[in-house]
Amino acid sequence: MTRPDIDGAAGLDEFIATVRELEASSAQLLSRAGDVEALAEAKRDSLGKRSKLAGLNAVLGKLSAEQRREAGAVLNEARSRLEELASARSVELESAERSRRAEAERVDLTEVLARPSGAPLGAFDRRRGHLNLVTQTRDELEDVFVSMGFAVAEGPEAETDWYNFEALNMPPAHPARGMWDTLYLKLGEPETVLLRTHTSPVQIRLMEAKQLPIYAVMPGRCYRRDTPDARHLPVFHQIEGLVVDKGITFGDMAGTIEEFTSAFFGEGMHSRLRPSFFPFTEPSAEFEVTCPICGGSGCRTCSGSGWIELGGCGMVDPNVFEAVGIDPEVYSGFAFGFGIDRLAQVRQGLPDMRALLDNDIRFLTQF
Ligand code: FA5
Repeated sequence: MTRPDIDGAAGLDEFIATVRELEASSAQLLSRAGDVEALAEAKRDSLGKRSKLAGLNAVLGKLSAEQRREAGAVLNEARSRLEELASARSVELESAERSRRAEAERVDLTEVLARPSGAPLGAFDRRRGHLNLVTQTRDELEDVFVSMGFAVAEGPEAETDWYNFEALNMPPAHPARGMWDTLYLKLGEPETVLLRTHTSPVQIRLMEAKQLPIYAVMPGRCYRRDTPDARHLPVFHQIEGLVVDKGITFGDMAGTIEEFTSAFFGEGMHSRLRPSFFPFTEPSAEFEVTCPICGGSGCRTCSGSGWIELGGCGMVDPNVFEAVGIDPEVYSGFAFGFGIDRLAQVRQGLPDMRALLDNDIRFLTQF
């Protein structure tokens, strides 16, 4: 332990002078500390149990009672000033440290992409990043539907049971709910709020607004408790279509899907419908398009059939119209929904959908 020179000091004046000297040298030590560790050390040396300042406590006992009171007050004030200085310096250093770390960890999204050895020249010469294939596909889909007269709408990703299931003709415990493995949120009553399993709840939101007629597409993210594999992701994207007007028929739906198929995939590409079941459409169908890989002649991707399934569709069920207060005797309509990631996968012939999320620059820069 370092004992202060004052040991054995006789007078108050000498005590006070020693306190001032120690305060000045400690203040210098604390202000000069260049980082958090150096400050901790300076604090230990200046104010710690073994510091010269702490050693002065022992000297106090050698003063008369009256001198002790005054000397004690001087010592305490010096200590408080030093403590304040130390904490102000600590705030300064921590903020500098945070800025330094933020700067060091900053990701420069505009940085030039390095070309891996062996990669073809040109593939990596873009200076900036670009939209993911899924986003590009969504934008293209929106463009095609807008050119066909559809508006684009969106809805929330966290939905209530009412919008995701009940209003879509799936009351609680309806067996069709089992078709969608659902992720519930801890919000309100158990199993009342969930991450939407499809974009169909946006149909309900649009119909509730009752700005009829409706000709809209609704793209967005969906969530299911699906294990990722070559054709499934737990977070994926769908685009929903909804038409509600007077006199809409199944033929209008088939024609719209056919029109979309050739506008999106190109002339010579066709669609076909196969009977299916969805609780919110009646009748319902799966729609398939000419396999974009083989052009319909049959390949491994389409299991030799020449057709690839894209999604579901059907005429809006009268129960759904009633749930949102639209008279099914006056209005009719159709809806469809399909996976955007699945569409991008099929169109580009990707063997595994997970590549869309892997962030492998060699994959992403191809699109
Ligand atoms: C539906 O989600 C219905 N809402 C579609 C619909 C809308 C029917 C309107 C009738 C009227 P389904 O569960 O089959 O249907 O999903 C539709 C499409 O979403 C699938 O064909 C597939 O392309 C895509 N999809 C579904 N689950 C996943 C997943 N885990 N990963 C990637 N894509 C998926």
